[in-house]
This record gives sequence, structure tokens and C-alpha cells, in this order.
Amino acid sequence: MDSGTAPGVSTLEPHEAMVTLLRQHHVLHSPQVEAALRAVERHRFVPEATLEDAYGVYTSVTIKRDAAGSVLSSASAPQVVTAMLEQAGVQRGHRVLEVGAGTGYNAALLYCLVGPAGQVVTIESDRDVAARAEAALRAAGYGRVVVRHGDGRAGAAGLGPFDRILVTAGAFDIEEAWLHQLAPGGRLVVPLRLAWPLAAAFERRREHWVSVSTETCGFIPVTGPGARVPRAVDVGGGALVLRLEDDRPVDAAGLHDCLKGPRAVEWTGVRVDDGPGWEALHLWLMADPRTPGFTKVSAGQDAVASGVVQPLMPWGGPGFHRGATVAYLANRRGLGGEGDRFEIAVVAHGSGATALADDVAARLREWNTTWRGRGAHHLELHPRGSGDTTSGTVIAERDRHILSAVWTPTTSAA
Ligand SMILES: C[S@@+](CC[C@H](N)C(=O)[O-])C[C@H]1O[C@@H](n2cnc3c(N)ncnc32)[C@H](O)[C@@H]1O
Repeated sequence: MDSGTAPGVSTLEPHEAMVTLLRQHHVLHSPQVEAALRAVERHRFVPEATLEDAYGVYTSVTIKRDAAGSVLSSASAPQVVTAMLEQAGVQRGHRVLEVGAGTGYNAALLYCLVGPAGQVVTIESDRDVAARAEAALRAAGYGRVVVRHGDGRAGAAGLGPFDRILVTAGAFDIEEAWLHQLAPGGRLVVPLRLAWPLAAAFERRREHWVSVSTETCGFIPVTGPGARVPRAVDVGGGALVLRLEDDRPVDAAGLHDCLKGPRAVEWTGVRVDDGPGWEALHLWLMADPRTPGFTKVSAGQDAVASGVVQPLMPWGGPGFHRGATVAYLANRRGLGGEGDRFEIAVVAHGSGATALADDVAARLREWNTTWRGRGAHHLELHPRGSGDTTSGTVIAERDRHILSAVWTPTTSAA
């Protein structure tokens, strides 16, 4: 089918359950995105996955790896896809560019959102993946999506300008082409590779760009000639992995062995539930130069199962490093105790465990008493050499742009 309308509403139970859960977990808000999620059958874009995985809200599906086993392409988890679509605010009739076609699933959702009067162009740097996406889109009835093989860092000159550009791979810097190919009033949604990765939706304000929303995310990096790759630092042979985006020296050998050193646990008195609020904490930690070696840390399944490490968010949570010492956040249940699920502890391993745990706990307490719930944040992206001055705290300096975090108090701290 190629009529520009959605091919239909799936009657599959896991599909319906996915949409329900996305709503229950406050990821899905708008009726437009909901209709698109109902219309596009994700399993048609990931035929290698079980139905359970195809419709797993937090499940990404790998579709291509390199010889060393690193993921080259995947279908992002529905939670991430939905959150970015909500950020994008795509409307009927929009022209949309996606960078990173992957399976084609997100392009199909975008096509449902823009409708027959709009246009979706998706660019994929991997030739095989691009061909697969094109075939899947055609087979599922979305043949009007334009699939291009090429380096999406250059955008799609000649096919724009675009009302929305969605980048679905992690960007270390913002490409000029993306900003230039946006129509007036347009919005760029891009996962930023930072100490704590955030997908930001940017809109133009004079000479700079301001985020209208941010969401925690994790993405395969944008690749291509000259592209920068993140550094992965292993702790304890897969027990923990730190993902570093900066060039600061790191004691990789010391960190590798630090689980053999002393362990310290510091209770913070800070209580955080499952709801919103975490993201503001992450951004605050990232923006505070006193936060020791802040980064995202994930944990290996075996190490968690055997209790070697007990992080609150094994899939990727706040981590800290200093010299040959690492720290992460935990709670009482994670530490094997009963009760309080919400009070946060800092667990540190290595020669400087007590000092690092104390310092991280102090940062959390300061956030809790001074900043928490007392303001809103946004990001500012300033092209280098532009006339506008950066306000807020600089969180990343790249070749083309400077990124800062700006806090706006909403209540008096009296
Ligand atoms: C997480 S996947 C995208 C998922 C996809 N949107 C979907 O719905 O399945 C990221 C994709 O970006 C592609 N990619 C990485 N660098 C790129 C570049 N410079 N230009 C275009 N695509 C790129 C990767 O090959 C990979 O397929």
C-alpha cells in the first residue's frame, strides 16, 4: 500500500501492550504519536527478533555488528523512539529528514505523522542497512519514504529545507548542514554525546539555538571519515564499563583493578523516586565542575547477579571516577537490604573509595537542598564565532559549537 495513509492498526497483543506501557510510563503523550505507534508494526522492521523483543518497550534490536562484535546498526528501543518523536512535534504536511535509517521503523512512524501532504527523507551511511530499510519500508506500505545511502552529516542538500531534522545516532558535534537545512521555525532533535547523553530538541533564537526539551538517551555514534569514537573503560573485566566522551587522562589500568581495593558506602539522605527529576540531577552533576569524573556507567549481568557491583541502574546510570577509584549510585534493595527503595547511596571501589563516596554524596546533598525542584533547565548551543554570548555553565566545547546549561529559578530559594 502506498496511499500515504497508515497501513492499518495492528491487532497483535504485544503491539497493543507496547503502546499501553509507553503511556503508563509517561513516555507517550500525544494522540498523533500514539496513532503512528499503533499503525506501524515494528516486527516487520525487525524480523530477526521474537515478537516479545520486537514490542519490548525498552528493547533495542541489533541488526548489524562489525567483526569485533560492536553494534553498527540497531532499531532503537520504542521508549527512545517515542520520546524523540514527542520532542520533535512533527505535524501533518511537514518535510522531515532523518539521519540514520537503520531498520526504517522510525521513518515509517514519521511518515504516519506527516501524512500524504508531507515528506520523509531518511539517510543511512551503511549501504546494506540502507537497502534493508528501503525494502522493509516498501514491504510495509511506506514506499513513499525516500531512502538515501550516504553520509547524513551533510544532511540532504537539494531535498530540504526541512521542518524537522531527527538524528538517530549520537552526535559529538552539531553539523552545520543540519542547521542550514532547517526551515525557519524548524526544530532539530539530536542525541548529544556528553558525559550524560541527552537528546535535545533545538530551536533557533537569533544567532544561537535553545533546547525546548531534553531526554536521557543512548545511541550508536554518528560514524564516517574523521568521526570521533567514545572511549570505553573496563572495570573488573566487564563488571562495570565507563563510557568517556572527553579527552581527560584516565587511569585505565588502575580502574580495571579497582574492585580488588577497598569499598565504601555512603548514604546520602537524598530520596528519588521513579518519576521525573533524575534528568535534572544528571544535568546538574554534568554542569557542576566540582563533580568528580562524572560519566555514564553500565554494569555486566554476571557481576550484578553475583553482587560484585550493585548499581541502581545496571543498564546505564550515573558514574564517577577519580584516579584508580570508581563510584556509582545504589539503594538499599540493590545493596541486598530490605526497605527503602528511594534513598540513594554512593558506592565506591578503590584506594580512594571513602573520599570519592563522600565527595559524590556531598554533590547529591547540595543538589537536593539547593537546586532540586527550584528551577527549570535548558541547553544553549552557540556556534563558535557567533555574536551571542554563552549564558549558563559550559558543559561541552566542540570544534563548531559551545554547549551550555542554563538554570532558570522558578521559585524563591528563601
Ligand atoms: C540507532 S540506529 C538508527 C535507528 C533507526 N532510526 C530505526 O528506526 O531503526 C543508527 C543508525 O545510524 C547510522 N549512521 C551512523 N552514522 C551515520 C551517518 N554519518 N550518516 C547516516 N547514517 C549514519 C548507523 O549506520 C545506524 O544504522
